[in-house]
Amino acid sequence: MIQLPTGIQLQEKTLAFLAKTQHLFMGGEWTAPAEGQYFPTLNPANAEVLAEIPLATSPDIDQAVAAARHAFQNHWHPKIKPAKRSQLIHKLADLMQRDLPILMELETLDNGKPLNKAKYDVLGAINHFRYYAGWATKIEGTTIPVDGHKLVYTLREPLGVVGLIIPWNFPLMMAAWKLAPALACGNCCVLKPAEQTPLSALYLCNLIQEAGFPAGVVNVVTGPGVPTGEAISQHMDIDKVSFTGSTVVGRKIMTAAASSNLKKVSLELGGKSPNVIFADADLKAVSQSALWSSFYNTGQECTLGSRLYVERPVYEEFITKLKEQAEQLSIGNGLTNPDLGPVVSQKQLDRVLNYIQVGQNEGAELITGGERCTGALSDGYFLHPTIFGHTNDDLQVVQEEIFGPVVVVSPFDKPEEAISRANHTRYGLAAAVWTQDISKAHRFAQATQAGTVWINGYDLFDPAVPFGGHKESGIGAEMGRSAIDLYTQEKSVWVNLK
Ligand code: NAI
Ligand code: MG
Repeated sequence: MIQLPTGIQLQEKTLAFLAKTQHLFMGGEWTAPAEGQYFPTLNPANAEVLAEIPLATSPDIDQAVAAARHAFQNHWHPKIKPAKRSQLIHKLADLMQRDLPILMELETLDNGKPLNKAKYDVLGAINHFRYYAGWATKIEGTTIPVDGHKLVYTLREPLGVVGLIIPWNFPLMMAAWKLAPALACGNCCVLKPAEQTPLSALYLCNLIQEAGFPAGVVNVVTGPGVPTGEAISQHMDIDKVSFTGSTVVGRKIMTAAASSNLKKVSLELGGKSPNVIFADADLKAVSQSALWSSFYNTGQECTLGSRLYVERPVYEEFITKLKEQAEQLSIGNGLTNPDLGPVVSQKQLDRVLNYIQVGQNEGAELITGGERCTGALSDGYFLHPTIFGHTNDDLQVVQEEIFGPVVVVSPFDKPEEAISRANHTRYGLAAAVWTQDISKAHRFAQATQAGTVWINGYDLFDPAVPFGGHKESGIGAEMGRSAIDLYTQEKSVWVNLK
């Protein structure tokens, strides 16, 4: 029986799904794991076990890959025409829309996030499928003029079987960011959700089946990084791995690809994004935005503006306001729609608390927060939003991705200083600048080493706009036209006309 906050009820279909024995989804069939092992997935709001999840090991990955390969050769590209692939992806989006309340609840239970934020995620995932459904019929090659009597054209072809390894912070949305372009391009997929949040991906399999995708086009295997993720990255018959998660694991995936079959790799990794506020900015707009760009999703988002730089004349005023707003954020069980839910796991809680300790040890000024929530929230992984002030960019809490509700703030004096400090990081995922001066804003955008720069805004996304990391934040951009390149390869065809 699921523990629920007073007055909250779940959809019948959510309860029925949670009551079922969970299986792996391979070749269109629900299958028990080869070695018979299971692991629990928890509700981070109260540490209750929500379900036992199959733990896929190497023989299961072999089976999933064989099913995907069979589907690729017999039932998918080029056997099914692009327009049909487009229709199937749209149908999946329709079914997700129909089951929106269930997907939201599963996402909230498994990850902890507020229900109304889970709704954005599911709607975002639906949008993503629809955007790439449109691409399925528009993937084109080119003709190339060359010397002599020759015709040269290129074909843009799917890679084959792709392994998709995703994190726990936006479970369904991350699945959509990878499945949607991979399928639109004509690949078959082996998806591994994060072990902390497998439920929405498993539920999605029902919808994939109902939508009418041929068996084996999408396979879902559940389990931790080792052995499940590792078996994917080392597999000799997977043509590409697309990964989102930590930089540490990103490196392991590249190593595994290099030492197995040189599969293609795309990586979306961590960030420590600078959010730079000039004194001439619209401070009212900034302070509301800065609150969310520091703490959205309880700080568990790769793009968050976890390094704030504020021009000195407005620094004190800005910090006072941010502190006041942070202290007013409501914290609680995601089903009650608070501002912030828990962090995802005990491991993440420990990691964030450890960073908070490190920050204090290395002399950062704790402006607010810094503690686990107590009382009614002590069963879950809840933390108070935390702000550190500092003047030293080399501190560990300024350099490393914390991935919790912790933001570091520092004053600056000159635009050039802001730019060089913004770039003083091994990451390069995103950055933002707030100013009314358009030249200053565009100069900043040009000088910043990041895959995305926002001017007078934060965390703006659209499926049509490429998103990827510079420096150690990743390889390859997802979204927009860029993802088509990630999930296809070019073939040049020469015709000798003589
Ligand atoms: P992680 O990188 O270990 O997990 C992400 C995914 O990779 C999960 O599906 C996991 O099972 C899989 N994985 C783990 N080890 C693997 C391996 N050896 N081979 C193949 N797959 C493997 O991230 P974790 O430990 O959950 O979080 C640690 C830190 O990573 C966070 O504190 C945060 O800094 C960062 N992170 C960044 C994310 C992003 O969106 N860029 C998302 C999640 C975590
Ligand atoms: Mg969970």
